[in-house]
Amino acid sequence: MSPSTSMLLILFFFITIITTTCSSLSAPVNTSLVHHRYLTVDYYAKTCPQLDQIVGFVTSQTFKYSPATAPATIRLFFHDCFVQGCDGSILISSKPGGKQLAEKESEDNKEIPTGAYDVIEKAKAMVERKCPGVVSCADILALAARDFIHLTGGPYYPVKKGRWDGKQTPMASLVYSNVPHANSTIDDLLKLFLSKGLTLNDLVVLSGAHSIGFAHCKHFVNRLYNFQGTNKPDPDMDPRHLKSLKMSCPRYGGNIGVVVPFDATTPFAFDNAYYQNLQGKLGLLATDKALFSDPRTKPLVQTLAKDKNKFFQDFSSAMERLGNVGVKRGKKHGEIRRVCNMHL
Ligand code: HEM
Ligand SMILES: *[C@@H]1O[C@H](CO)[C@@H](O)[C@H](O)[C@H]1NC(C)=O
Ligand SMILES: *[C@@H]1O[C@H](CO)[C@@H](O)[C@H](O)[C@H]1NC(C)=O
Repeated sequence: MSPSTSMLLILFFFITIITTTCSSLSAPVNTSLVHHRYLTVDYYAKTCPQLDQIVGFVTSQTFKYSPATAPATIRLFFHDCFVQGCDGSILISSKPGGKQLAEKESEDNKEIPTGAYDVIEKAKAMVERKCPGVVSCADILALAARDFIHLTGGPYYPVKKGRWDGKQTPMASLVYSNVPHANSTIDDLLKLFLSKGLTLNDLVVLSGAHSIGFAHCKHFVNRLYNFQGTNKPDPDMDPRHLKSLKMSCPRYGGNIGVVVPFDATTPFAFDNAYYQNLQGKLGLLATDKALFSDPRTKPLVQTLAKDKNKFFQDFSSAMERLGNVGVKRGKKHGEIRRVCNMHL
């Protein structure tokens, strides 16, 4: 064997090791997550050609008098997809007097402003008038989220459709373990995202949704007064930012309804300032900050902070992947509801 051949063999050996290690780190293919292959942009081209227009009309009207509905609806879509898939199950109200609380009534989802549910219900009612019985609530939610991203200055991307609404409503207690929390670690978040077929990059890119919207004080108040039990603020925070957050969120006796914008510089614009703020120690949640302090996610934060076009492109394709999670199809698991807050 010539020296160069043995070099090649060694090289080949290493490449094999590297690729097998890498693939075992990536998400396993979840066979229950394959129905998204049936999603297409023109799914309703024959049955409801006016769909995008109708939803677009309702979202833009709503945005005029209630701009806070934009971030609320984006979060609604995210939480719908992470709990039992993008199947509109988050929209179902608990049965009055029923024993079990629905997904919607969980602690995490109760924070989502009701305007988000209303805009979906309104769009659905209008869609039903034009094309009764064909368009799922899950698809309307995906479209509305896209519209609101665009209305706030973000990218406009085509939405693939064909999701069926879930026949089952998950219990409220199922929500906690399926959505991220402000006190999650990057490892927790990565594990959660991988379990949904999403990647570490998707985690960083989709967190860019925090370019708009608001958070209640309880999610970050520890950072202001008692960071990791030190009885001191998080040292990793811009002092002026810290001061202003303390004014909105006192240590004791604050109003639990108070919310603070995620993006301290451009709170109403969907842009890449979120990532620039992370570099400037202006992040709000511990998880936002962690994206810049963790060596695995920092490089992408830096790239996105510099390149708004890349952020918009990456965000659009990450939203498509988010919209693929746990998609349902067929009468065994799915239905096409008449109204979004009740099963057929
Ligand atoms: C990755 C880790 C994430 C964590 C820990 C997290 C956590 C949170 C928390 C605690 C809030 C505040 C809720 C409140 O107080 O009312 C919030 C709001 C929000 N989240 Fe996230 N989130 C994450 C990822 C995402 C993703 C992937 C999206 C969408 C693609 C998203 C979209 C939003 C939006 C738009 C809001 C603002 C809601 C509003 O203003 O009503 N988040 N998030
Ligand atoms: C993390 O935050 C949630 C609320 O979002 C809370 O219920 C939970 O107890 C917190 N966990 C820890 C370990 O502090
Ligand atoms: C696959 O996805 C389904 C539905 O989202 C979930 O219930 C199941 O636990 C997942 N399985 C694996 C191995 O991740």
